[in-house]
Amino acid sequence: MKFALIGCGRIAASHLKAALENQLEIAALCDLDPQAIRNLRREFGLEGEQGIREYADYRQMLREIPDLDLAAVTTASGLHAQMTLDCIDAGVHVIVEKPMTLDLAQADEIIRRSEEAGVWVCACHQNRFNLAVQKMRAALEEGRFGKLSHGSVQVLWHRSQEYYRQADWRGSWAKDGGCLMNQCLHGIDLLLWMMGGRAVEVCGMLANRFHPEIEAEDLGMALVRFEGGETALIEGTTNVYPENLEERLSLFGQAGTARLGGKSANKIKEWQFADPRPGDEETRFFEEETDSVYGNGHQALYADMIGAIRENRPPYVDARAGRAAVELILAIYKSARTGRPVSLPLGDFSAKEMEGFRP
Ligand SMILES: NC(=O)c1ccc[n+]([C@@H]2O[C@H](COP(=O)([O-])OP(=O)(O)OC[C@H]3O[C@@H](n4cnc5c(N)ncnc54)[C@H](O)[C@@H]3O)[C@@H](O)[C@H]2O)c1
Repeated sequence: MKFALIGCGRIAASHLKAALENQLEIAALCDLDPQAIRNLRREFGLEGEQGIREYADYRQMLREIPDLDLAAVTTASGLHAQMTLDCIDAGVHVIVEKPMTLDLAQADEIIRRSEEAGVWVCACHQNRFNLAVQKMRAALEEGRFGKLSHGSVQVLWHRSQEYYRQADWRGSWAKDGGCLMNQCLHGIDLLLWMMGGRAVEVCGMLANRFHPEIEAEDLGMALVRFEGGETALIEGTTNVYPENLEERLSLFGQAGTARLGGKSANKIKEWQFADPRPGDEETRFFEEETDSVYGNGHQALYADMIGAIRENRPPYVDARAGRAAVELILAIYKSARTGRPVSLPLGDFSAKEMEGFRP
């Protein structure tokens, strides 16, 4: 299966590693900056690989490699949607980094055009594949929590001023959003997925406490109500001193309580169920080793997407999941901007509409 990577920056290595581990044929690397391509090649010992073509223009790449099967879009967030749409139009399946888009109208366009073209789009929410997350999900699907009361997610991370100064898109409303849209999207996606996926009302507050160099928030808090009456609490920040502390996900049901923690929701911290089962004792202390705050999930996400293409079935995290997480975060943004609770479905809204708002 022929693969191309569009964007060779910080996260690109996780994608190239996952593509190589899944035996994809690396057909092309694309970046506006040739040095970024060289650096990535060097990191993977691919300097001499003549079969890997290099492009600055991804549209030219799509034209010149007509038998490309799969592309990963790993550029700045504000570019994801258009690049995904261009891949779809070229008949190429896509793994698009989170957030899939910053604009709900574009999300709808991605869903519509991919369905029409018979092309699969996978939103890169790789934390869904974390082993601890999978254990929580299995307990939920087996009904072990009983009726859910509420859940919460706390993404307690750190980003320096230097991090935000690395590129002008970081922390801008039009091209990135703040910590909720960037760093906390994985945790918010996990919460939404566990709570059944349908939020109906959101109350949000944003602040920018330590990063005057960016437009958007470095701290976001929200209360969410779901379709079934469950509620949830979201706390996300890049302000924790002196480094990333934890990504914590809690689920409280009538017959079960589970809490995940660790730097990227990779550890089980609490595991209590009314129906004890074999294996619960070990699960209670489960931890998946990872040396990256991004977790180990890219490999499994790629394996699933390759399976989706071969079997012509939706990927585990499809474009609708990509849209749902973005919609919830945009609803928090709109609520913060208007100072009122916001109902979902949200209708068309984009992060660009936050321009001029100083949290
Ligand atoms: N899934 C995760 O856990 C995770 C982790 C980090 C970042 N991300 C996401 O990945 C995306 C990229 O983040 P990053 O930290 O790697 O950013 P980055 O700025 O380090 O890399 C982006 C790269 O895209 C290139 N680029 C820009 N415009 C381009 C164009 N038109 N054509 C080709 N290349 C172009 C840039 O030159 C740069 O090398 C962001 O959307 C971010 O939210 C996801």
